[in-house]
Amino acid sequence: MEPNLTGRTIIVTGAASGIGAATAAAFTRLGARVIGVDRNVPDGSSDFVRADLSTAEGAAAAAEEVRALAPTVDGIANIAGVPGTAPWRTVLGVNVLGLRAFTEALLPSISEGGWVVNLASNVADGWAARETQIHAFLGRADDADALTSVEDDAEITGNSYRFSKECVRALTLAQAAGTLGRVRVNSVSPGPVSTPILDDFKRDHGTAKVEGAISLTGGAASPEAIADVVVFLASPAARWVNGSDIRVDGGLAAHRYTEAVQQHA
Ligand SMILES: NC(=O)c1ccc[n+]([C@@H]2O[C@H](COP(=O)([O-])OP(=O)(O)OC[C@H]3O[C@@H](n4cnc5c(N)ncnc54)[C@H](O)[C@@H]3O)[C@@H](O)[C@H]2O)c1
Repeated sequence: MEPNLTGRTIIVTGAASGIGAATAAAFTRLGARVIGVDRNVPDGSSDFVRADLSTAEGAAAAAEEVRALAPTVDGIANIAGVPGTAPWRTVLGVNVLGLRAFTEALLPSISEGGWVVNLASNVADGWAARETQIHAFLGRADDADALTSVEDDAEITGNSYRFSKECVRALTLAQAAGTLGRVRVNSVSPGPVSTPILDDFKRDHGTAKVEGAISLTGGAASPEAIADVVVFLASPAARWVNGSDIRVDGGLAAHRYTEAVQQHA
């Protein structure tokens, strides 16, 4: 059953395109007041804050503008993101540091029983293997220091998108633990989704690899298919789901796992 979100105020970053636009539309359709946040202006008529979420300063300024529009909010969908074709500092800035700064600035404004959903990715499935690097990066008090600390690590700078989403998975657990009993925090990990970013993923990971994955599942996901899962995590039906990641990949990971098992048999 679809939730009735009348009277709720929900923040959606990345609202100008793709999954963020589909999520903003879904929440609006369910009756919520949506405040979109993006560097680009979305089509449509919802409340909107134009912001650059690539730095802590930009994220803090965006949070300030959001607070001016709505002193309390019910949830934040952190969907803004950039692909690995962007410079690695921008990738880690938007996908991790900006996301964290924006969320932390708004946490006090989230009402009791509220929620946060962070967009991760299926490329982050192996995040636990890089726990040490992830926690070292996230543990730096200063963002500039965090970026400097990884600048000579080609494993990270050369795979900045994967590392960024691995950080999002770990950050989601830390945020859920830090707000236990008050605000639920979960992540969503899509496989390929039909949005403008998909062409960048092809350039970053190789067209054959991405198209091969897409053909296995009979097509890329629609942005609405990911938005539906974000809506679920925001709904009372997910009231006991906290600190979880939901993989939304049409069965791609199941296929890869089974294929690997068969190859080793
Ligand atoms: N499309 C996919 O295949 C896929 C798969 C897994 C995860 N994701 C993740 O889903 C999220 C949404 O991606 P999408 O596919 O909708 O891509 P998209 O390019 O359509 O949308 C991304 C949005 O983020 C905004 N954004 C980027 N940098 C920003 C900044 N500095 N400040 C403010 N806004 C900024 C863009 O303007 C855009 O509106 C991203 O975090 C992405 O990494 C996408």
